Amino acid sequence: MRIIVVDNYEEMSKKAANMVASQVILKPNSVLGLATGDTPVGMYEEIISLYKNEEVDFSKVKTFNLDEYYGLSKENPQSYYYYMMNHLFNHVNIDENNINIPNGMVDNIESECKNYDKRIVEVGGIDLQVLGIGVNGHIGFNEPDISFESETHLVNLDEKTIESNSRFFNSKEEVPTKAISMGIKTIMHSKKIILLACGNSKANAIFETINGKINPNMPASILQLHRDVVVIVDKEAASKLNLE
Ligand code: PGA
Repeated sequence: MRIIVVDNYEEMSKKAANMVASQVILKPNSVLGLATGDTPVGMYEEIISLYKNEEVDFSKVKTFNLDEYYGLSKENPQSYYYYMMNHLFNHVNIDENNINIPNGMVDNIESECKNYDKRIVEVGGIDLQVLGIGVNGHIGFNEPDISFESETHLVNLDEKTIESNSRFFNSKEEVPTKAISMGIKTIMHSKKIILLACGNSKANAIFETINGKINPNMPASILQLHRDVVVIVDKEAASKLNLE
């Protein structure tokens, strides 16, 4: 793992955006794996600026999002579909047909999950996967105690995740209790990974991910076994790290 410690959120966002843009410049038909949550919002803003400055072209890019809440429609402002349109896709020249986000409203979950993985394989796999990390060490919605062998699947959200994500909803009761998430196996098949984290609340998860033992109770720790991971963290999220 390559660890880059930056001063603040803005610096993290710029670095991550430059890495995503470089990927697309080098391979215009790149397959990007994308994340939601607060952490990548600034990165998406920077990517939109690079696009507006004509430094990057998304016309051939394909994207696969990590996850979607189960039971929320595309029109629901809390859905990750809505988030992605709002924070990135409505502002760049991506072809709508190249956007893939799990459908949280399907009846046949099993076939939705199988098809999602199949589509990723059909396009040649994910070239660059962007990840945030939960306070409990989740990546995507792969909560502690997950199987490292899992592909895209329906997950029960962890109490800590529901608590943490309730800030986006009117009340904790409104937070969906299930989601469809790419599995750890799907994520680990990505050719490159960028993991982003900011703030003290992530310090423990970042410490366990980088300096801890690989352990299904800290899902992100499996990234130690991936050959091309860049972790970009601010000083607070890096505060517990032992960087010699
Ligand atoms: P956050 O979420 O970016 O909103 O902190 C990250 C995550 O839960 O993966």
